[in-house]
Amino acid sequence: MSSLNVISRMLQRKNTASGTETATSWRSRLRGHTPSVSFEDHPALGTLRMLTSAAQRFGIGDPFFKVHEGAGGHHTQIEGREYLNFSHYNYLGLNGHPAVNAAAQEALARYGTSAGASRLVAGERPVQRALEKALADLYGVEACVVFVSGHATNISAISTLFGPRDLIVHDSLIHNSVLEGIRLSGATRRSFAHNDLQQLDSLLTELRHGYERALIVVEGLYSMDGDLPDLPALQKIKSRHKAFLMVDEAHALGVLGDTGRGLAEHYGLGGDAADIWMGTLSKTLAGCGGYIAGSQALIDILKFAAPGFVYSVGLSPVLAAASLKALQIMQREPERVLLLRERASLFLSLAREAGLDVGTSQGCAVIPIIVGSSRKAISLSNQLFDAGINVQPIIHPAVEEKAARLRFFISAMHSEADIRQACRVLSQAVRGKAPGREAEDA
Ligand SMILES: Cc1ncc(COP(=O)(O)O)c(C=O)c1O
Repeated sequence: MSSLNVISRMLQRKNTASGTETATSWRSRLRGHTPSVSFEDHPALGTLRMLTSAAQRFGIGDPFFKVHEGAGGHHTQIEGREYLNFSHYNYLGLNGHPAVNAAAQEALARYGTSAGASRLVAGERPVQRALEKALADLYGVEACVVFVSGHATNISAISTLFGPRDLIVHDSLIHNSVLEGIRLSGATRRSFAHNDLQQLDSLLTELRHGYERALIVVEGLYSMDGDLPDLPALQKIKSRHKAFLMVDEAHALGVLGDTGRGLAEHYGLGGDAADIWMGTLSKTLAGCGGYIAGSQALIDILKFAAPGFVYSVGLSPVLAAASLKALQIMQREPERVLLLRERASLFLSLAREAGLDVGTSQGCAVIPIIVGSSRKAISLSNQLFDAGINVQPIIHPAVEEKAARLRFFISAMHSEADIRQACRVLSQAVRGKAPGREAEDA
């Protein structure tokens, strides 16, 4: 089974809330059908097979599920070959950092690998609390709670805090985990065109009065386009319409602001700029898990009512220790954040000079190269891979077909030479010149 198709199928769910067909319409269509007892006739499998054979027909290789033989970072090894890597969220180079590894090993020796059970009932470890305190302090808010997955954090938090009497309005490019959380909450969902805050304002003017609570959800740094929302304007809109504001900082932490504190720092604002700060431990913080930071009341609700926290095991102490150490290094070494900014803006300007389409990217760690078709994106990704550069294609339906792209994640660890090499090879490939491995070309 081609992993290309698995990804394509999974990505299909990124921008659409699934489950739109009603139970009634299903039931009427199923009348007279033989009951299904095999996954072989599952519609998802049909789609997978169709996509596999289409990819084979087009002679497109499969750029997904590559096996990396070492720590994920700015360089990587795949099947014994070295690659320049732009497919990892190691924004500040903290994955595999000796001090992060040492903290994880210490926690491993002391606590073992598992938190054992739900923290609510089975108790917790000091390192989980220390991480939450450090994150709350970072945002300048009262409290924080960590979950075992970033994706589950959004689902569990949104569906616990909001319900059928509420309205949730989100940016059209919001992450799938937010959409799934909204779907589970039963709230009314509306989206506004990407970063179009006038449309957000109009939607709230039109609809707000009919609902008990209203929530606006945006990302701190958009993971597909690498651009940002206007937080000061969002603050005004949320106050005017008496709405809550939630910012998903998955890609903003460690990237935005002079010390990496995210969107609020970028705009010179404090933790009270949003009501719900969400983030993941899997990117800058070199771990796995997610967090919500905000008022004590918010965190108390989640700690006692969010199923993804109450009925799920606590974050592994090993991962909590790793992320806590990564956070401390980020705060101690703000030069990493500045270096990341330098590298990303170099990439952005070289790409622009080469006439490549970088969309609305602000040059903050996430830089798309829009190439106009899924087929071209996959083919370019394969060509770059052959030339020693690992970068993932983002294809339809994750984005519109004409917006299919290669998405580069920049790390503070990329050297200037890495960035120049990637842009050179990329522009050759886009212009139709087959790039070779630099070493092999020499
Ligand atoms: C904006 C955003 N939110 C949430 C998540 C989920 O985080 P995780 O992968 O850590 O579960 C992601 C993942 O990439 C993301 O990009």
